[in-house]
Amino acid sequence: MGIGISLAPLARAVARRGGIGTISSAGLAAIVSKRLGRKVNDREAAAIEVAEAKQGGGCIAINIMVALHQAFTDSILGALDGGVDAIILGAGLPTNLPEELATSEVALIPIVSSVKALRIIQRRWLERLQRPPDAVILEGPLAGGHLGFSPQDVDKEEFRLEKLFGPVKEFAQKNGDYPVIVAGGIYYHDDIVRWVNEFGADGVQMGTRFAATYESGASPAFKQAILECKKEDIIVANKPGSPCGLPFRIIKTSPGYQLALTRTRPPKCNRGLVLRKDEAGKFTVCSAKDSHNSFCICNVLLSAHGFTDKEEPIFTIGGRGHLVDRILSVDELMDELIGLNGLPAGG
Ligand SMILES: Cc1cc2nc3c(=O)[nH]c(=O)nc-3n(C[C@H](O)[C@H](O)[C@H](O)COP(=O)(O)O)c2cc1C
Repeated sequence: MGIGISLAPLARAVARRGGIGTISSAGLAAIVSKRLGRKVNDREAAAIEVAEAKQGGGCIAINIMVALHQAFTDSILGALDGGVDAIILGAGLPTNLPEELATSEVALIPIVSSVKALRIIQRRWLERLQRPPDAVILEGPLAGGHLGFSPQDVDKEEFRLEKLFGPVKEFAQKNGDYPVIVAGGIYYHDDIVRWVNEFGADGVQMGTRFAATYESGASPAFKQAILECKKEDIIVANKPGSPCGLPFRIIKTSPGYQLALTRTRPPKCNRGLVLRKDEAGKFTVCSAKDSHNSFCICNVLLSAHGFTDKEEPIFTIGGRGHLVDRILSVDELMDELIGLNGLPAGG
């Protein structure tokens, strides 16, 4: 979870308990530079964070978003330098990957929201790298962060995770028989059991519940906002929305969103980390002057991590985030998820 929500402390704690601890590469160079008090580039930052997470043992992944165009290749190479076990690629179609990955043993895992996207990715990876995905993450419309659906489709019955799963599982089985991991709205032990036993998923990816742990890099205000938010506070922001042109699920009371609704000035954007989709659907490098319908995704998220006060924070959250009622340690959460601590199994 970016920016700065899943760093080495969270990933290490998850990996230590047998999960795949996933670091986010978003904004990592700025975060690691600040922490070390010296400037590091994208490649060094990924290598340092991965190596630090790996020290606790277990399996460490890094999530690298295609939309982070500038840092994309260097983040991949840095993660390899750091000894990462898996690279998870989302927020766009990861079709242009460095050739180093053709011979690397690292697991390559795309995030998709449709079988169509998986088909395209698999064809390109076979052509370019001579390897299919090692697993795929199918992210449904209840996920936090950017969503791979048009704003009109997010709430449609046909795009529910349960509906998307069958075709993706069938494709994966017939084209390399690799695992399908589901994400979006999975909160409790019972959810996991249902997905694995009833539907045949091979694993789950969870975001919001881990954002609300002591080990997560979310600011205290972010964690408090998760605890306080009600169902009706969780919305999909579009206009104003993320400059990436994808719907973005947030807590509507986030100070940065409230400001964006009434703002008369352009967003304070000084980073240009992401690609922005213009009115004609063309991708250009994001900059403040043409971002009238958006907030500065980098600064509002860096603010939610407590890194900057250049913009007010916006808190991203999954569609069932209102169910989170306490901050836990990763150990307590993992106990609950594997059904150890006898707490209510969920709703
Ligand atoms: C705070 C937060 C930050 C996230 N950041 C990213 C990200 O940087 N890249 C990404 O691919 N997904 C991101 N996501 C999506 C999660 O990785 C995950 O797939 C999703 O939230 C699962 O749904 P859940 O929150 O209902 O468990 C984020 C989610 C949250 C809640």
